[in-house]
Amino acid sequence: MTKHLWSGRFAEAPDADVFGFQSSFAFDRRLFEDDVTGSLAWVEALAAAGVLSAEDATAMAAALDEILETGRRDPTFVAGTDEDVHAFVERQLVARVGEAGKRLHTGRSRNDQVSVDLRLYVRRVALDLQGQLRGVISALVEQAGSSGGTLMPAYTHLRRAQPILVAHFFLAHAEALRRDDARFDHVRDEADAMPLGSGAIAGSSYAIDTAGLAARLGFSRVVANSLDATADRDFVASFLHACALTMVHLSRIAEDLIIFSSEEFGFFELADAVTTGSSLMPQKKNPDPLELVRGKSGRAIGRLTGWLASMKGLPSGYNKDLQEDKEALFDAEDTVRGSAAAVAAVISSLSVAGARTQAAASGLLLATEVADYLVSRGMAFRDAHALVGRIVRDLLASDRDFESLSMAEWRVFSDLFEEDVAARVTARAAVEARQTPQSTNPTAVAEALSGLTAWLRDARADRDAG
Ligand code: ARG
Repeated sequence: MTKHLWSGRFAEAPDADVFGFQSSFAFDRRLFEDDVTGSLAWVEALAAAGVLSAEDATAMAAALDEILETGRRDPTFVAGTDEDVHAFVERQLVARVGEAGKRLHTGRSRNDQVSVDLRLYVRRVALDLQGQLRGVISALVEQAGSSGGTLMPAYTHLRRAQPILVAHFFLAHAEALRRDDARFDHVRDEADAMPLGSGAIAGSSYAIDTAGLAARLGFSRVVANSLDATADRDFVASFLHACALTMVHLSRIAEDLIIFSSEEFGFFELADAVTTGSSLMPQKKNPDPLELVRGKSGRAIGRLTGWLASMKGLPSGYNKDLQEDKEALFDAEDTVRGSAAAVAAVISSLSVAGARTQAAASGLLLATEVADYLVSRGMAFRDAHALVGRIVRDLLASDRDFESLSMAEWRVFSDLFEEDVAARVTARAAVEARQTPQSTNPTAVAEALSGLTAWLRDARADRDAG
């Protein structure tokens, strides 16, 4: 009969189907590297505490190094009928060093072990996803940079609202992703607490130097309470939240690009390489990758809500329900990784149809400029709003716009209108009239662009240094 880590207690072998159902090796093999890393540090800590002889510790560390190398070189090595990745690594160790390998789990439980594995994993992966996010931000920043002074309409309620710079549109999406990047910083900080020494629930009875172990594994602190630590997966929930919100943002980018590249808008042209055709309609060029990103946002949100539901109402201490964290985590990670790469590729290869965006940025969406003009001549804004509303009604009835009004016609509405009204009521004048730093004023946008460019540069430097 196969020996499990806990077989001694049982007179009967486990039911094969039920064992398969509760076993996690099929997916937690993804924690392999972190599991070995954690065990290497644990061997050193046991030796320092006088629990392992120096000789045993050296042999075990060498074997663990070899196991790690073998698994890195050949991922198919990480396989077998083991219950989980922890059992796999221990079996490999015992196969190499015999008796000494059986001492590895002294003072440790899979409860604090899986926690350290997961924390190491989340910290690595969050950093990696931040790199992916910066790829999208950098594509947005490049489009913003190359769109220069090109104008487009901005929409509220998906109705033309006011003219903006195309750059302002791209940078708006970049800002949302920059918040996601900060959210992943927070996730890494939350995962940054070393749980070994918690044992199964009550702590370890060996004099483990937990601070030294934390430093050795790159953690800045040690968890505060073993009972809390062995059941704490808040950092997983935070990771899933950061992924879900990132996907919400990517889905909004996707939706904007889908709409604005449609025949009806024609503002952007998507590259052939990132679109797909129809099996029936020869003329079609479909934004499938963007639609998939939009669809996958539902999946990421589901992973978060599903995980919160699994955690809710658990009794304190470790419960096997917690094993559900892994598939949620891995799936959310894969979803963000794939989606960010697709969105970055679509953005960097799209072209802006400036003539179309600019044409759509004029017309009645300049109504606010007319009202502001009257305000600058002393009229109260509410009265100006009402008067311009009447002008708009007239213009709509005769299918005209502000630009077609003669001076005499302007003055029929109000004698506050002077010759300069024509120059003030243009899309270009509208963006230039904006005065606040977060506005679409070209100087403000140029500053925002250089701010983001510097941020990307610093982030890259930090990453290279770290
Ligand atoms: N596969 C388990 C998990 O992912 C590892 C911890 C098992 N601990 C236990 N007491 N059964 O949560």
